[in-house]
Amino acid sequence: MSNTYEMFLTITREIGQLEATAALLDWDSETYMPKGGLSIRAEQQSLLARLWHERQTDPKLGELLSKLDGKAEDEVAATNIREMRRNHKRAVKIPLKLVEQIARVSTVAKDAWVKAREASAFDKFAPHLQELLDLKRQVADAIGYERERYDALLDEYEPGATTEDLKTLFESLRTPLAKFVGELNEAERKPDPSILDRRFPVETQKLWCRQSAEGIGFSFESGRIDVSAHPFCSGTGPSDVRLTTRYQENFFPSAVFGTLHEAGHGLYEQGLPLEHVFTPRGQAISLGIHESQSRLWENMVGRSRAYWERYYPQCQTVFPEALEGVSLDEFYGAVNTVRPSLVRVEADEVTYNLHIILRFEIERDLIEQRVAVNDVPEAWNAKMKELLGITPSNDAEGCLQDIHWSMGSFGYFPTYALGNLYAAQFYAAAERAMPDLAEQIRRGEFGALLDWMRTNIHHHGQRYRANELIRNVTGTPLSIEPFMSYIRRKFSPIYKI
Ligand code: CO
Repeated sequence: MSNTYEMFLTITREIGQLEATAALLDWDSETYMPKGGLSIRAEQQSLLARLWHERQTDPKLGELLSKLDGKAEDEVAATNIREMRRNHKRAVKIPLKLVEQIARVSTVAKDAWVKAREASAFDKFAPHLQELLDLKRQVADAIGYERERYDALLDEYEPGATTEDLKTLFESLRTPLAKFVGELNEAERKPDPSILDRRFPVETQKLWCRQSAEGIGFSFESGRIDVSAHPFCSGTGPSDVRLTTRYQENFFPSAVFGTLHEAGHGLYEQGLPLEHVFTPRGQAISLGIHESQSRLWENMVGRSRAYWERYYPQCQTVFPEALEGVSLDEFYGAVNTVRPSLVRVEADEVTYNLHIILRFEIERDLIEQRVAVNDVPEAWNAKMKELLGITPSNDAEGCLQDIHWSMGSFGYFPTYALGNLYAAQFYAAAERAMPDLAEQIRRGEFGALLDWMRTNIHHHGQRYRANELIRNVTGTPLSIEPFMSYIRRKFSPIYKI
């Protein structure tokens, strides 16, 4: 290995270390930090953010990158050099002043958003949203783009994806999906989800969640699970992965499926190659690919009939009060109920993507100044009506429900829908490779599926871009077909249509 590459790796690893340290402090803030720790923590985080930016824009890194141009000795080096060049180029284009301004404005905006949501008054949040949009437009202009500003923002979360591709994809998804939701809505016999609102003692849920995460292969030697207000997956590397969940005594799915979701993210993190930790070759590709892993374990595995054929008898035994006399079919229908709802995080796997299409269309219009900030509630409600057939009765359950815009995260939402589509396409490929997959799940065996994910996805780190990876693994570019066929195959029998 050349001396130049060694020096480059040292800086690269430091940048990765700084990110991991910031993530750990964030995890602590969301789980165990006493309230009083907030101001000290804010200073620590701002120091780390500054150090990160300095390293990322270090002229020395720039020099090393130019020396290494075309000199990669192997695929690992090529991946690291390519991705670090991309990050460095992006970072040097954004003036430090702008970075700091966004951090400051979004801290205030987040607070304003919390208050506006409590009061259900969008006008209290509107000026902050305006300010963030103006700043993010400056970021997009600084980075540069070929077709529209939104491309530059999207690229932060889903490298290589373009607005045009997403537009095409979502437009092709919109109509068949809304039509299918309509068909399910008109079905004569619908599952009854009310059994899920019965009492499920939290202590039992905790044991259940831990076992189910362990069951699909999450290692507690290299990970843990704790409680936070909003579930997430974080950590410092493949050997230290932190999941969180939240328990609701009178709502079964929240912790149980939330844990499988976060454990899916966790399996990806634990499967990344440890020998390349803190470098791009050892890191996740994109938010969309990350979300594909969580969705796959939560929905395709965790909400499948095969899974509950294996685990429902045990579930009934540990939650006798809630589930006595409830048949497997009733339970399976309950956890797979589809109904248009106002809130994205509570949406089922069929209607979920419609919530994302709505956000994608509105945030693009905002960035391109086709919609004025003050008109957001109206635009939101009109699209809810059009896509899901329902209208929010106030801003809190409408355009104020998500935190993302208050953090200046424009271009993040589409990665959730991409995750659903990638997941279905990966799962279809896994089924082709292992025709007895459902049988394996019915026996509570997940090792072969996890190995398949490890070999085909996790082990590569950032070796491929998301669009390359999906083509390599499944043989075709990303399309809506595997997802549409998955939901039709799954939900038509449940709704007997
Ligand atoms: Co997720």
